[in-house]
Amino acid sequence: MTAVSPLPDEARANEIGQFLLTYKFGLDEMLTKINILREELSFRGTGNPIEHVSSRLKTIESLREKAERIGCPLELEAIAEQITDIAGVRIVCAFISDAYQVLDMLTTQPDVTVRTIKDYVARPKPNGYRSLHAIVEIPVFLSDDVRQVPIELQIRTVAMDFWASVEHKIYYKYDKDVPSDLLAELEAAAHVAQDLDERMGELHRIVHGGAHPS
Ligand code: GTP
Ligand code: MG
Repeated sequence: MTAVSPLPDEARANEIGQFLLTYKFGLDEMLTKINILREELSFRGTGNPIEHVSSRLKTIESLREKAERIGCPLELEAIAEQITDIAGVRIVCAFISDAYQVLDMLTTQPDVTVRTIKDYVARPKPNGYRSLHAIVEIPVFLSDDVRQVPIELQIRTVAMDFWASVEHKIYYKYDKDVPSDLLAELEAAAHVAQDLDERMGELHRIVHGGAHPS
């Protein structure tokens, strides 16, 4: 048996810690942007489009698991290039129109660079999943460097969020091998959620958009 010196591991842990810290700063910057929008829009009295916000940093374990799944070498440089959801923010809105408005307000800021936008609201996934996804980059100013940090944004309505969280639990409960009748039930529920979003949007327009039912 060879004795392993603890030093390389410690140095590596430190390196990974610093790597993740930059993403944490990226999250902090993005959360500040979202809070500014929230406060400003409530102050204007035009109604706050944001119901709630959550954020997460990938753990080292989930980083390793994803790198292995997508065939990415376990090196920080490769990980930084290939894994764009190390920092994630989920914004939940009441209405579909609010979700698009929030996406637009965040992605058009001059210091935000859009890498990708996926509109799973206009084109839901085959299982029924709906959400707006964007990978954006924002600058983080360190003591001796400026880093462009990618952040995954997921913007969705309360109904989409409810569906996604139930689907996620079922997926894990069945270890990704969900019985077909449950899959069909989930897809049907996604249509109900979509219908609810559309009806709530219609009510919202009647109350705030000046249109009156005949
Ligand atoms: P990942 O490698 O899984 O991160 O996804 P991707 O690169 O294919 O990107 P996509 O935009 O499709 O998904 C990004 C994230 O959205 C996922 O990590 C999930 O958090 C969420 N998501 C995507 N599809 C589903 C889905 O069918 N159900 C649920 N509950 N969440 C989903
Ligand atoms: Mg992900």
